Amino acid sequence: MQHYDVFSWVYESGTELLHGRHRREAVELLRLRRGQTVLDVPTGTGASLPLLRERVGPYGRVVGVDYSSGMLAKARSKVTDAGWRNVDLVEADARTLDAELVGTDRVDAAICMLGLSVVPDWQEVFQRMFDLVRPGGRVAVMDLWLDGRVDSGIANTYYRLLAQADQRRRFWEPLVEQATDVHTIDHTWFGGVARIVGGTKPL
Ligand SMILES: C[S@@+](CC[C@H](N)C(=O)[O-])C[C@H]1O[C@@H](n2cnc3c(N)ncnc32)[C@H](O)[C@@H]1O
Repeated sequence: MQHYDVFSWVYESGTELLHGRHRREAVELLRLRRGQTVLDVPTGTGASLPLLRERVGPYGRVVGVDYSSGMLAKARSKVTDAGWRNVDLVEADARTLDAELVGTDRVDAAICMLGLSVVPDWQEVFQRMFDLVRPGGRVAVMDLWLDGRVDSGIANTYYRLLAQADQRRRFWEPLVEQATDVHTIDHTWFGGVARIVGGTKPL
C-alpha cells in the first residue's frame, strides 16, 4: 500500500483550502479550448478534473494518471458521480508515462500540480509529460519551493512529513528551459513560495 492510499482520506479538503487558487491559476495557464486533450499527472484524488473537464467540454478528453489506488478511488467517484464519459484514469507509475499508457499520441496540454516535489525521478517524469504534448501545446506545473531550506513554518513541515514532498527541487526549471511564452505566478506561502509556471512547447 502506498503512503498516499492512506493519505487520500484527508487529502482533498485540506488541499483545496491551501491550493484552490493555485489550481485555478495553473489551469488558466493551460489556455485550454473545447475539444482538446489534457493530461493530469499525477491526478491524485482528481481535484483538477472538474476544472479541466469544464474547459475541454464533452468532446475533449482528460486523462489522469496516478499510482495510488486510494487516491484514484476518490478520482473515480468524481468521474462516476458527474457522469463524465471522456475522463480516463490510469493507475500507473508516472515514470512509465508514454503514449501507449495514456492511450493517445495527441496531447494538447498537460498539468503537473503538486507532483514534481513528490514523484521520484521528477526530471524524468516531467520530460515524459513534456514529450507527450504536441508542439504548440501548453504545459503547466505548480508546486512549493523552499529555496533550499528544510524547516520553514508549520505548513511546510506538514508537507514534508505528510505529503512526503521535497520542496527543495527546482521543479520549474525544465519547463522554463524548454518552453516559450512562459508565465510565472508566485505566491508567498508560509515561509516559502507557491510557484505556478505555464509555457508553450515550441513548434
Ligand atoms: C500531493 S499529491 C497531488 C495530486 C494532484 N495533482 C493534486 O493537485 O491534488 C501527489 C500525488 O503523486 C502521486 N505519486 C507519487 N509518486 C508517483 C509516481 N511515481 N507515479 C504516479 N503517481 C505518483 C501520489 O499518489 C499522489 O496522488
